Amino acid sequence: MGRMKPGVAEAFSASPTLDKVLRAAVAGWDHALAVFRPGTGRLVYANGAFADLTGIAPDQLAKTTVFRCLGEEGKRQARAAVTELSGCGHSRVTSELQLALPLRSPRRLRATFALLHPTPKRQLISMHLVDVTEWVDRERVLEERLGFLSGVIGGALECVVASRMDGQILLMNRGAQLLFGYSEEEAVGRKYIQDLFEGDTSHEVLNLLRSPSHGGFGVVDRHQAILIAESRERIPVWMSIHTLRDAAGGEAGTVAYVHDMRETLEIERRLEEVQMQLIHADKMASLGKLAAGVAHEINNPLGGILLFGSLLLEDMDFSDPRREDMDRIVQEARRCREIVNSLLDFSHQKKRYQEPVDLNAAVEQCLSLLGNKAVFYNISVALELAESLPVIIGNPSQIKQVFTNIVTNAVDAMEGEGTLTVRSRHAGDTGEVVVAFCDTGPGMPANVRNRIFDPFFTTKEPGKGTGLGLSLSYNIIRGHRGDIRVHCPPGGGTVFEVALPVVTDEEPVA
Ligand SMILES: Nc1ncnc2c1ncn2[C@@H]1O[C@H](COP(=O)(O)OP(=O)(O)OP(=O)(O)O)[C@@H](O)[C@H]1O
Ligand SMILES: [Mg+2]
Repeated sequence: MGRMKPGVAEAFSASPTLDKVLRAAVAGWDHALAVFRPGTGRLVYANGAFADLTGIAPDQLAKTTVFRCLGEEGKRQARAAVTELSGCGHSRVTSELQLALPLRSPRRLRATFALLHPTPKRQLISMHLVDVTEWVDRERVLEERLGFLSGVIGGALECVVASRMDGQILLMNRGAQLLFGYSEEEAVGRKYIQDLFEGDTSHEVLNLLRSPSHGGFGVVDRHQAILIAESRERIPVWMSIHTLRDAAGGEAGTVAYVHDMRETLEIERRLEEVQMQLIHADKMASLGKLAAGVAHEINNPLGGILLFGSLLLEDMDFSDPRREDMDRIVQEARRCREIVNSLLDFSHQKKRYQEPVDLNAAVEQCLSLLGNKAVFYNISVALELAESLPVIIGNPSQIKQVFTNIVTNAVDAMEGEGTLTVRSRHAGDTGEVVVAFCDTGPGMPANVRNRIFDPFFTTKEPGKGTGLGLSLSYNIIRGHRGDIRVHCPPGGGTVFEVALPVVTDEEPVA
């Protein structure tokens, strides 16, 4: 082994005995070090760790070349590194070596080759080897675990979004991409969590995460929020969030598990609707029985009053001063009979014949009857009727009665001024014909809207409304297997929709 002179890359030396000290340090080093000639590869120095690594006896090392020490694969890689070092103009090259040495398990080494100039004419190369086999194995295991975990989270349909403490998105899995409408490329590193939620949600959540009262310190459970999708749609969600920590325990980011609430809310709304319908149907059934009983009892004496009253009226002379009173008695008795008839209708006590009904024609007939009334003078009517509607099977006069009541209500609500729009359409998906009556009136507060189908519910002055119009209409339409739906759009006014089923050949109405 030749003696090494100080290298040109040396940065500092204040001691003349340093050369000796360095040799001793390098000789006892854990990392393998060898110095060799560039052309032949003949070794001029190798420390104990190099002898251990290659398994070659120290007295043999002086007679061999560096390439022979490294086995076939290592030899090829080392030669390539030396060629690169000579050709690239750099004084240092790092490469990965794989050593398959006799009697040893395969090793992976990080090799650093450096060009040394001990004299101006002479060139040597040092090779410093660090055994990274275990690191590489650990890295591979870690990579596998990470790949597995990111596969599990990334592919899940449950939404997971992770972000840095400043809000920058680090991870948006498949479920979250579908919910938010962003691709991974659009979101990761580009979007901030603040962009994804309405208002100040992200700051609120951060404050909650730092207080221990919401599921634990660093945890917020079932927090409700509105997220803003790429399409600008507002989506109600609840989410659980927790803080991600670095090795030192500091805040490194947050991860949110987001749950879309739209379906749950829709189911709740429909349940509430069905519950209301059940309560209503129950009330209607009891009231129907009561009404039928009373109507039956009143019908006969009323018939008598009307008959005998009319006979008396016929017998009275035109000059008789009592004639006016008698006439009033007969008229009032007729009015009573109409109310009794309504009550009988209400309790299904009267059988009605059924026939094919063109709902467009029913709308037009109802409007032409009402249109001449004084209350209509400042109200414009816009008809947007579908060109061809399938007929439905029903009782035409009952259906006209329903339309008349809805139109009268709309006209009353607009107090003489506004627009009534009537639209008809065939909703093929539900197999219904729908007629919608939209007014520009004041709409209804929720406490009125919830009660309009209750019998005798009215907000009109005494004598102006009995409150039976809509409950009767509801019963008639339910009797036709249809539905009346009402809503007050945010822009104002009220929309009543009457939906009646189109009867197919296979399913005739009895
Ligand atoms: N288009 C509408 N705009 C606002 N409120 C309405 C509308 N339609 C109905 N209403 C409300 O619903 C209530 C009940 O209506 P319903 O037709 O059953 O009875 P009424 O019109 O008051 O009396 P009746 O029809 O027996 O003469 C009305 O008093 C009114 O408060
Ligand atoms: Mg009415």
